[in-house]
Amino acid sequence: MKVLVIGSGGREHTLCWKIARSSAVDEVFCAPGNGGIAGDAICIDIAGDDIRSLVRFVRDNSIDLTVVGPEAPLVAGIVDAFTAEKLPVFGPDSRAAALEGSKIFAKTAMENCSIPTARFKTFTDAGLAKTFIDQAGYPLVVKADGLAAGKGVIVTSTRDEAVRAVEDIMVKREFGDAGSSVVLEERLIGEEASFIAICDGKNIVPLASSQDHKPALDNDEGPNTGGMGAYSPAPVLDRETSESVLDTILYPLVAGLRKQGITYRGVLYAGLMITSDGPKVLEFNVRLGDPETQPLLMRLKSDIVPLLMEVAHGSSIKDLKLEWEQGPGVCVVLASGGYPGSYEKGKPITGIDKADAIDGVKVFHAGTRIQGNSIVTSGGRVLGVTALGSDLRTTIDKAYRAVSLISFDGMHYRSDIGHKALRRLS
Ligand code: AMP
Ligand code: GLY
Repeated sequence: MKVLVIGSGGREHTLCWKIARSSAVDEVFCAPGNGGIAGDAICIDIAGDDIRSLVRFVRDNSIDLTVVGPEAPLVAGIVDAFTAEKLPVFGPDSRAAALEGSKIFAKTAMENCSIPTARFKTFTDAGLAKTFIDQAGYPLVVKADGLAAGKGVIVTSTRDEAVRAVEDIMVKREFGDAGSSVVLEERLIGEEASFIAICDGKNIVPLASSQDHKPALDNDEGPNTGGMGAYSPAPVLDRETSESVLDTILYPLVAGLRKQGITYRGVLYAGLMITSDGPKVLEFNVRLGDPETQPLLMRLKSDIVPLLMEVAHGSSIKDLKLEWEQGPGVCVVLASGGYPGSYEKGKPITGIDKADAIDGVKVFHAGTRIQGNSIVTSGGRVLGVTALGSDLRTTIDKAYRAVSLISFDGMHYRSDIGHKALRRLS
């Protein structure tokens, strides 16, 4: 069979690599892909949001399954367009994708289903939002309602910071129309973790647990990024906590959406804060995490394609079981100098082959392109150096040994990926 993956980041490289290993798959295509994806799939020069051209490509080339990587085309309705043409596609439709596309929709759905999350209020008027800040009396997080490329959330500590955040989002419109409404919510304390599952509209198959590292610098300092590294499993999500996430969060949400006439099919990702009161939802995403996907899919022993196919065809995944490597996976992201701020592109990268040659290491490309005979940088997050091993300490060491072989001008990365888990395990 032929599979098309849509997207161009590290998540999509990992998906292409995993899908290409399936015995059911003859050819993998990726639109638009990147310099590294070109080694595992045939890259097609169509942008991930050019829905009409993607439909045409899939029809003309008899693609059997399309897997959508990023949130923007899902929120824009790519699945609705494919479904209207009877083309098998993996991902939620636009009504379901509103869980990520609108923070207000997500918070309202959680409220209706009594799902544990931070107390909140929504505003379309900056003055009323500021009045609420004066009355709240607890630290607030200010969130633009719409999609803002992962940047529309401002965590504040003081009243003045919260007021400034409302002005930046609602008045200065730093995230454009995404900021015409905001959510103000209580700031939660705890450790963050990612709980990612596959859903067929009714049944849920959880993936292994994982943890991202969002701040740019060691010890969780510096500005927020798309994610500087990840590992799986995450010891903070022990068996009891994971069961509670399924029982109190994911199943009630999917059932609640079904009552509203929304069938949730695809990846359902709960970004959680594990508080002293148990797990609470920070956000829902409607696609796989990046970079969580890198260690997750390296640990996944089962073929992922049957699961994706069943969901795309609207079948039940109740009896599908996934098998995982016992040992952990660790991914260290190598970023361009200046990221998450502005950065230069086109820097030649050396050492990828040597790093890839280490047993149990795979270098996934996030922001690279081929230039002549070399690979050069083309994005903020450039590579996800991912290792699989027998225990966390040696796996972290292996990932960093691979990192030490790679270089490009301005390269920076966190040197403490996985340390929270090491502390918890000791
Ligand atoms: P979100 O896009 O909603 O996940 O927010 C991005 C980041 O902001 C999260 O990964 C958290 O680090 C932080 N965050 C969001 N909401 C809260 C909250 N209610 N309390 C504390 N931190 C939060
Ligand atoms: N790694 C966080 C995200 O994909 O949203």
